[in-house]
Amino acid sequence: MHSILILFAHPALERSRVNVRLAAAARDLPGVTFHDLYQRYPDFDIDVAREQELLESHDIVVMQHPFYWYSTPALIKEWEDLVLQHGWAYGSGGTALAGKTMLNALTAGAPEEAYCRVGRNRYTVRELLAPLEQTALLCGMDYLPPFIVHATHTLDASDIDRHAADYRRVLEGLRDGVLDRDAVKDAVRLNADLDVALPATEEG
Ligand SMILES: Cc1cc2nc3c(=O)[nH]c(=O)nc-3n(C[C@H](O)[C@H](O)[C@H](O)COP(=O)(O)O)c2cc1C
Repeated sequence: MHSILILFAHPALERSRVNVRLAAAARDLPGVTFHDLYQRYPDFDIDVAREQELLESHDIVVMQHPFYWYSTPALIKEWEDLVLQHGWAYGSGGTALAGKTMLNALTAGAPEEAYCRVGRNRYTVRELLAPLEQTALLCGMDYLPPFIVHATHTLDASDIDRHAADYRRVLEGLRDGVLDRDAVKDAVRLNADLDVALPATEEG
């Protein structure tokens, strides 16, 4: 069983419709540590030693967040700038994260078709996440295609429940080491077809 650290970042959780439900589906899973960064660091005063300890004691790091300006909320950037230190995460002797896995799990207001060459956002979400992917690779991590919930404003409660169930299924698959990484490596999003990525559930 692999341990999962969810770095959760939503600056306005009281207004969240989707992340709040994804978080509820994830936080009680055995093997998952749910770490709410905005709750823990409302003043951006990040405890670097604590964050590094958390990273060292988990195998898989999930950054869960809404897509803000084609990127993460600001606290994740601050977290990266402070926590991923030279000589610890990268550079000479910096091997603390080597061999671990990273996943972005994000929600986006725009629909999937907006995120392509001819769409209004011109790039795929995966392309826009390139700084995070390359950061993970520089640290020797394995970077998975992002888990993405699109068109958040159009989703009704049952749509959100379905995405929350998918998110839980992905986390269970990662935890249990049964997610087929080769099968999804070029997927535009990890949750495009979970039946390709994960073994069939008992229901089918
Ligand atoms: C400051 C801000 C920036 C945003 N930037 C984007 C964006 O770049 N692309 C996008 O698709 N949606 C964008 N959105 C929409 C959010 O991604 C969307 O409201 C959120 O994912 C919904 O999740 P929630 O219900 O958990 O808040 C933005 C919203 C805010 C408030």
